Amino acid sequence: MRKLLFSYTTRVLHFCFATFVVASYLLSDTPSLLWLHSALGIGALLVVILRIIWFFVGEEGVKLSSFDFSFTSLKNYILKYFSFKNIKLRNPATSYGAILMWISAILVAISGLLFIGGKYGSGIFGGLYLVEIDAHMIKEVHELFGNLLIVIAGIHVLGVLGEQILKKSGIVKTMFDGKIEGENRNFVPFQNSKIAAMLVGSLIVSFMAYLGIFKSNPFFNSEIAHQEYTTVAPVMSSECKECHIFYPPNVTSLESQLNILEGLSNHFGTDASLDDELLALITTETKKSAPLESPFRFEDLKNNESITQTSRWKKEHKEYNDGWFIEHKVKKTDCKACHINFEKGSINPFELSGKI
Ligand code: HEC
Ligand code: HEC
Repeated sequence: MRKLLFSYTTRVLHFCFATFVVASYLLSDTPSLLWLHSALGIGALLVVILRIIWFFVGEEGVKLSSFDFSFTSLKNYILKYFSFKNIKLRNPATSYGAILMWISAILVAISGLLFIGGKYGSGIFGGLYLVEIDAHMIKEVHELFGNLLIVIAGIHVLGVLGEQILKKSGIVKTMFDGKIEGENRNFVPFQNSKIAAMLVGSLIVSFMAYLGIFKSNPFFNSEIAHQEYTTVAPVMSSECKECHIFYPPNVTSLESQLNILEGLSNHFGTDASLDDELLALITTETKKSAPLESPFRFEDLKNNESITQTSRWKKEHKEYNDGWFIEHKVKKTDCKACHINFEKGSINPFELSGKI
């Protein structure tokens, strides 16, 4: 006889967790979709938080008491794989697997938030942008936990397949209908509330929709990295915007900027000369703005080389070939067309225009 063990809510949480983790992992190498990767990661964190609450208010099958953390059990589970009988509702391998996956997901999400805070000044840890912090190191930690999570998830899936194929325990069916073979199992019947599941499901869906629609939400917002150059460097922002977008001084090195100012009479093929007074004012503003925070400085501009000619720029934009720019009528040098807050000295994946 099959007995109901997992409520609708538990199955919704399980499904969302698995989907968010896998989708987020698959998107982790696509820079232009970093916001979606992050949204899914934050979504997975929300699911873990709800699951922790569910420990306390959910059915017997989800409570901590249904997990088997005994080492002897784990040993027996491995050594006597075929004859092992569960002592608790869950076998020891799943018990450890589930807890380790939830802990890793929390660590992945927190390190991800610390990374976007340190690198882009984004989100709840945006303050880290102003502190000397090694964003690269945080990223490594983030990736380490991320890989760990995927490895455990992989082992968990193998475990499920083993139970299904080798032991024929019908575990895959349990994932969907929540029922388990249960003549010899005793657990209290519970209210399999559809309403609770719908509430939890809609909370998750609305939260994901909110992150997807409102990019300036508290998790992605990058206000800290914005600089009002119209007030910090008023002369430069008006004079240097006559022919093109404003190239904020934190995007190139001070040396490249001074080179540009010295060579204005032959400026990328045009004469952009200014009178001495304006030039002096702009030079002062440039020097003042040069130390402003920026992880995006292009250091290696020689002889007024365009940023778009550097190998770094080409690498960061390899998704877009020359044909793309022609087809979409966007100039490569019009950084603002894609990086909407470029003129405020901010470049990050949460501030990309809808064009791309
Ligand atoms: C008379 C028009 C004109 C004025 C004024 C002008 N520029 Fe330019 N600038 C250009 C042209 C043309 C280019 C090259 C084409 C392009 O990038 O759109 C260029 C390119 C640049 C680039 C290179 C962008 C890249 O591709 O990496 C920088 C940086 C730049 N200008 C800075 C300045 C600064 C700073 C000032 C103010 C002192 C200034 N420009 C004023 C016409 C002008
Ligand atoms: C066709 C749209 C487009 C244009 C135009 C464009 N970019 Fe980008 N850029 C992107 C996308 C998409 C990414 C990847 C998402 C990200 O990392 O922010 C990116 C990434 C970057 C990065 C890496 C940011 C990081 O996360 O480390 C830098 C720096 C950058 N762009 C600078 C520029 C500069 C400077 C210009 C103008 C000379 C420019 N981009 C023009 C679309 C564009």
